[in-house]
Amino acid sequence: MTDDVVTEVLDWCRETAGDGLSGDGVRFVEPFDAWVVHGYSEVNRVLTDHSTFSSDELRYSARPIPHRDNPILSSLSAMDPPRHHLLRRLVSRAFTPRAIRALLPSITDTVRRQLADADGELDVIGRLGYPLPVRAISALLGVEADRQPDFMRWTEAITSFAGSFAEDPGRQAAFRTAHTELVEYFREVFAKHRARPQGDVIDILLAAEPDGSRLSDEELIDFCTLLLINGHETTKTLLVNTVLCLAAHPDALAQLRADPGLVPDAVEEVLRFLPPVGGTDRFTTGPTSIAGHAIETGQRVMAMVLSANRDPRVFAEPEKFRPDRTPNEHLSFGHGVHFCLGTHLARHELAIAVNALLYRFPGPWSVGRIATGHAPVGIDVLDLVLVSP
Ligand code: HEM
Repeated sequence: MTDDVVTEVLDWCRETAGDGLSGDGVRFVEPFDAWVVHGYSEVNRVLTDHSTFSSDELRYSARPIPHRDNPILSSLSAMDPPRHHLLRRLVSRAFTPRAIRALLPSITDTVRRQLADADGELDVIGRLGYPLPVRAISALLGVEADRQPDFMRWTEAITSFAGSFAEDPGRQAAFRTAHTELVEYFREVFAKHRARPQGDVIDILLAAEPDGSRLSDEELIDFCTLLLINGHETTKTLLVNTVLCLAAHPDALAQLRADPGLVPDAVEEVLRFLPPVGGTDRFTTGPTSIAGHAIETGQRVMAMVLSANRDPRVFAEPEKFRPDRTPNEHLSFGHGVHFCLGTHLARHELAIAVNALLYRFPGPWSVGRIATGHAPVGIDVLDLVLVSP
């Protein structure tokens, strides 16, 4: 039964990519009310050409937007240049390789403590998947990590208040509660930081005058919400996906044991094979065409990263999980102006966690328990227990 669920998750990704890449890889999909783009070079173009494919849904979408008060829609990730450039530059210095290296001792310590009493069994999400990225992003932002359960609840409510899910009254109510609590929380945090700055991301944002004036509290909240959400949900999913891939591919696990130096490459292969973010949306700023399909202004275009990562024109044997695959130019961190800010952090967190798991769980890995739910694109693993004798 457990194996069936693991196979279902892996198969879903393979089949979605395979179906998408058939034909010319571009089609209008009614249930999504969107043009869905699968091929590598087409996805790359959608992500790179930001003047044709905007991230600003509020400005360009031709459809009504039920989730217009979702803070993510006003955040950095939903902006186009030049404003995007101004704001991104502000926080970039908190994400440089050097700044992230300074966090490594505390990341290593968190992993060590969270695995200290693991005895042949690990609640992957509860023990590492959430605590690890939440502590790291809390340290970067300059907030206490003790609100982890709230961060998780707010993230779930905000990320699932999107697309067709936004019509659901239950999700709307959860979103309203989460949003009210989150606004109240960040207002308190800002007051503390204004009284006593420590030089963290929140202080950088509070002091910034990107275009001659300070950011409003709403803009600051949107920014912090984006970092909080992007910073932990994706990393949790990458860790889950890594465990699934290695449990399902014992040869790859043995290869890593024989040569732990391969761990960073193996993490890149998990990113390609089972990307935490399956696709990302853009909105056409004018009439355009992709692979000969005419697309009108204001259309939603979904760039399907998970299919692009399996495009046989770019990746040899794309259906094979090969932990030593190089080069591995997957698009799982996006591309172009919105390229993920947290890549160094996520890669380090994963490398540290996987090395520790290889050491603490030296036998074969299997999945003892798994529970899944639906994500806007794909399957969300809600609970995962790794078992190893
Ligand atoms: C953007 C994936 C971890 C912060 C993105 C994008 C993707 C992505 C695909 C681009 C979205 C688009 O083009 O629309 C991932 C994955 C991660 C991860 C797969 C982990 C495995 C992180 C972490 C942080 C972070 C740890 C912060 C601590 C951001 C931010 C953006 C972003 C702020 C928006 C950048 C912009 O719009 O300029 N991420 N991310 N991400 N990510 Fe990540």
